[in-house]
Amino acid sequence: MNYALIGCGRVAPNHMVAAKANGLHIVAVCDLDPNQARKLLSEHEVESARIYTDYQEMLNKEKLDLVAIATWSGEHAKIALEAIRHGVHVIVEKPIALSIEEARLLIEEAKAHGVKLCTNHQNRFNPAIRAIRQAIDKGKLGRLLYGTAHVRWFRGPSYYAQSSWRGTWAQDGGALMNQCIHDADLLRWMMGDEIEEVFAYTDNLIHPYIEAEDLGMAVIRFKNGSYGIFEGTADIYPDGLEETLHIFGETGTVKAGGMSVNRLEAWNVQGEEDQLPLLQKECDEDPENVYGYGHTPLYQDMLEAIQQDRAPLVDGEAGMRALELILAIYQSAAEGKPVRLPLQRGSTLDYVGRFKSHAQ
Ligand SMILES: NC(=O)c1ccc[n+]([C@@H]2O[C@H](COP(=O)([O-])OP(=O)(O)OC[C@H]3O[C@@H](n4cnc5c(N)ncnc54)[C@H](O)[C@@H]3O)[C@@H](O)[C@H]2O)c1
Repeated sequence: MNYALIGCGRVAPNHMVAAKANGLHIVAVCDLDPNQARKLLSEHEVESARIYTDYQEMLNKEKLDLVAIATWSGEHAKIALEAIRHGVHVIVEKPIALSIEEARLLIEEAKAHGVKLCTNHQNRFNPAIRAIRQAIDKGKLGRLLYGTAHVRWFRGPSYYAQSSWRGTWAQDGGALMNQCIHDADLLRWMMGDEIEEVFAYTDNLIHPYIEAEDLGMAVIRFKNGSYGIFEGTADIYPDGLEETLHIFGETGTVKAGGMSVNRLEAWNVQGEEDQLPLLQKECDEDPENVYGYGHTPLYQDMLEAIQQDRAPLVDGEAGMRALELILAIYQSAAEGKPVRLPLQRGSTLDYVGRFKSHAQ
């Protein structure tokens, strides 16, 4: 299967590793900066791939089956749309888009063109997360009461100085849209997907040099009668603490933690009280960075989805649901009142100037 990657920055190595591990034929890569592309190809020993600086030219010239998009977030939707309209299957890095309207259009167009659309929420494939989801599916936790997601990380001046798109409303969003959106995906996926209402606060407390938020806290009411707490920040001194997911059911309490939900830290499940050490042996991972090892199994699932003509596990709708929760949090915080879902519209651009007193 002919594959190309668009965007050759920090997360690109995970895509190269996943593409190679899944036997894809890497025919081209594209980046506005050809040196980035060259460096990536050389590091992954795929020098035979062609280099482009214009994704449209690449889509026109190459016969591609699958592209992955790992550019600045604000570029995702327009590039994905173009690839879909060329009849190419798409893996798009999170967030799927920066507005509901764009995400909806991608889903509709992928259907119309008969291609698969996958959003890169790779943490769903962490063994600890899979174990929790399996327990829920088998009814081991009983009726779900509530779930919480906490992303307590730190990003300082050197992180934001790497590239000017970071922390902007037009290309990124803040800590919630960038660092914490995986947990919006996980919390919804675990708690039955459908949300009724969200109430939230967001702020920019210690990052005066970015436009968007560095902290957000939300309370969620799910349609199935359960509740959620979502908390995310880039403010935790000195270099972050944890990314943690708790699910509390009537017959089970489980917790995935570690720096990026890749370790099982509690398994108090009725009838399985002694299982934690065994499950930890099977599930716990210690990846070198918070991106983890999920890109490779996510690619594998996408390839199977293409072969079997089924939806990938993290499809366009899943990407839109995660985006919707973050945009609902932004809206609730800006309006100072609860927001009901589904959102018909919404964009990061609605919040330009919101933390004006902080941004320079
Ligand atoms: N799944 C994850 O865990 C994870 C981790 C990190 C980043 N990401 C996402 O991946 C994306 C990239 O993040 P990053 O940290 O690698 O950023 P980065 O700035 O390091 O790299 C992005 C690259 O995209 C290129 N680019 C931008 N617009 C382009 C365009 N129109 N055409 C071609 N190339 C273009 C830039 O030149 C740059 O080299 C972001 O959307 C981010 O949210 C996901």
